[in-house]
Amino acid sequence: MSDMINQNYLLNDQYKDASNFSLRLHALRRMGAMQRSWYRWIFDHIELASDGAVLELGCGPGFLWLENIERVPSTWRVTLSDFSSGMLQDARTNLGEKAQDFTFEVIDAQAIPYPDAYFDVIIANAMLYHVPDLARALAEVSRVLKPGGRFYATSIGDTAVLSLSQLMHQIIPDSWLSSSLGFSIENGKEQIARWFSRVELDRVEKHMTVGDRETLMELARSGLSKEDQQDPAKLLPVEEAIDQLLARQGKIHFNMDFGLFSAR
Ligand SMILES: C[S@@+](CC[C@H](N)C(=O)[O-])C[C@H]1O[C@@H](n2cnc3c(N)ncnc32)[C@H](O)[C@@H]1O
Repeated sequence: MSDMINQNYLLNDQYKDASNFSLRLHALRRMGAMQRSWYRWIFDHIELASDGAVLELGCGPGFLWLENIERVPSTWRVTLSDFSSGMLQDARTNLGEKAQDFTFEVIDAQAIPYPDAYFDVIIANAMLYHVPDLARALAEVSRVLKPGGRFYATSIGDTAVLSLSQLMHQIIPDSWLSSSLGFSIENGKEQIARWFSRVELDRVEKHMTVGDRETLMELARSGLSKEDQQDPAKLLPVEEAIDQLLARQGKIHFNMDFGLFSAR
């Protein structure tokens, strides 16, 4: 099984807490992937009357809410969920005093512990490609969503997956990033359409260039276990691979394509 959907690996290593994901996001920001915050762009799409119930699946460090905090109506009842309790703890810490306005709950997207037709909006941001039984997760989403409710799911596309995984595999040969995703811009629509009658896709593309060692090192470290990140013997070959890559190519160019599905 690919580590991309290996629940044990994701839960106990890569997403044990927010540190690796935050590091990767920091590197991607430095590379220019998100000039305007990706989270502001996602929030622009959310349509909800003033007093709805919202569920975010796989909320990670809570950045969607942190970066839009002044736009969240006080009348929304927002549940932030993730299957990693460490992630949720970091989301709570990141939101600081505002954390009291949210409910936090450990939830695996494949078994959502809520009654039918409970939520007005469900968000699954950059997380469905980690779920082994996608059909089950989407069935759960459609079950707990009210009739007429909205589902928003984001992912990256084949171009981004390929360039990111190729880059990572040159630096870390056994990188956990896989070169194809179970849920992507290209294959997401038909999967969601099994459960929703209207699915729209909005895409953004960024051309990125990276030429500095530090950013590549940050990206590489985000893919290592915490133990390996502290181990000079593990870091040395990664540093050497980055130096060789930069010596060969000078700068590394790649495209990053993101997409957001809005379904109802
Ligand atoms: C790439 S991170 C995205 C975090 C956040 N949505 C964001 O975009 O900032 C993926 C998140 O999905 C969570 N996750 C992975 N598999 C999950 C599952 N089966 N159920 C719920 N959460 C899951 C991980 O713990 C991690 O926090």
